[in-house]
Amino acid sequence: MSMQSTLVSQFHHPRGLLGQLAGWIMASRASNLERNRWTVDLLELNPADRVLELGPGPGVTLGLLLEQTNAGLVVGMDHSETMLAQCRKRNARAVREGRLQLTQGSFTELLDLPGPFDKIVAVNALQFDGMSNEALSQITALLKPGGTFAVSFQPRGSEPTEEKALAFGEKVASLLKGVGLTGIRIEKLPLEPVCAVCVLALAPQES
Ligand SMILES: C[S@@+](CC[C@H](N)C(=O)[O-])C[C@H]1O[C@@H](n2cnc3c(N)ncnc32)[C@H](O)[C@@H]1O
Repeated sequence: MSMQSTLVSQFHHPRGLLGQLAGWIMASRASNLERNRWTVDLLELNPADRVLELGPGPGVTLGLLLEQTNAGLVVGMDHSETMLAQCRKRNARAVREGRLQLTQGSFTELLDLPGPFDKIVAVNALQFDGMSNEALSQITALLKPGGTFAVSFQPRGSEPTEEKALAFGEKVASLLKGVGLTGIRIEKLPLEPVCAVCVLALAPQES
């Protein structure tokens, strides 16, 4: 494996020293921070919301979610122990206070999550293993009726293009429609090197 693909694989499953470096890049790159802040704003959080973040990486977005939900609960689920350690360190006070729960697990096998949630969010994470009907059905079953699911994506790697961002948005929108979500819309944020998209969708209200 080349050095470049070794580093790229660390964004899928960060491990060890290279994984820590990937976490540091994710927590410091200006476009990452802007994309993640924008996604949190789109969620229109209420202070008492229960929120799940899938693939929080270094835990910067968890911090933003905690700022806006001081009467709720935030849960971060990631398969990487290296990333969960960064989440824990970055948000130590909220973990001590019981406002943040961190869980190791996979998008394809959601176990022991304290649902249901008002909001579920994933930023540059679901493209790894989370784009199947099975995974999305499990995830969206954790939403309260009327709850919001937000999936953001900004292409990375050697050839990021706006077309890839838009195609991802369309694909996620169609998959979310397929698992029964409603009110689907796609938002776009101009960024360097290419735009980010966020697909927002609602769980149906109980009849
Ligand atoms: C590229 S990072 C994005 C991190 C953060 N959301 C951000 O935008 O900076 C992807 C994260 O998703 C996690 N991840 C990837 N595939 C996963 C899976 N199948 N199950 C659980 N976590 C996964 C990785 O460990 C990593 O922390």
